[in-house]
Amino acid sequence: MLQYVNVNIDGATVRAPKGTSVLDAAIEYGICIPHLCHVPFLSDIGACRLCIVEHVVNGRSEVTTSCTLNVEEGMVIRANTDKIRRLRRNLAELLVAQAPNSRAIQDIALRCGVKEVRYPFRNEDCVLCGRCVRVCTEIWQARAIGFVGRGKDRHVDFPFGIRPDFCKQCGNCVQICPMTIPPCDGPMKPGEEYLCGKCESQLMIADETPGSCVWCQLGEGFGCGRYVGV
Ligand code: SF4
Ligand code: SF4
Ligand code: FES
Repeated sequence: MLQYVNVNIDGATVRAPKGTSVLDAAIEYGICIPHLCHVPFLSDIGACRLCIVEHVVNGRSEVTTSCTLNVEEGMVIRANTDKIRRLRRNLAELLVAQAPNSRAIQDIALRCGVKEVRYPFRNEDCVLCGRCVRVCTEIWQARAIGFVGRGKDRHVDFPFGIRPDFCKQCGNCVQICPMTIPPCDGPMKPGEEYLCGKCESQLMIADETPGSCVWCQLGEGFGCGRYVGV
């Protein structure tokens, strides 16, 4: 039988089954916490860190990723403090610098309040969110791709760089990747480190339509399906 606990998130009492992550509990109640590497049907690895919150214990708070933190009775979570917003904005800025042409990342960054990017653009084609690796391993049980290398050389690849026979060619790894959304046509070139806001205009439209979460503009697999506001 499911055991439920009560958690306080930004002043709201949220009731969730034990074992649920704080992020999932918040999403279920329409409290939007930005997230990129989290996918509802996959395990969480805390890669993007966008979902950070303050976990308050005995008056002291600790910043942690909400997708890897499970709910506990009486837990107090602050998801939108000035400190969290500042840290999240910086994380989103770093993601944009890493993949400036990703429409998905631009959308999330705009939502986090990023207008300009202070870091040099690197134009990488992967932000190491691990969505592809997890869908391949956990849904298809194929393990046809994985992380390879360390530090700045870390990337996703097939074993020995060759597509193995056991790859089911399902295409899910591509579909679930935030880098494969049709790229933004904004001014994302070296020397033009700012966000054009075109995506934001779409977010503004969605703002007026509660119920259509567009944190990521990535469709069902990416968003929580709800939108309440921040
Ligand atoms: S296409 Fe191959 S590598 Fe990609 S998710 Fe499917 S089985 Fe895994
Ligand atoms: S290839 Fe795409 S889905 Fe896979 S880790 Fe990189 S950004 Fe994430
Ligand atoms: S969604 Fe929690 S770290 Fe990425």
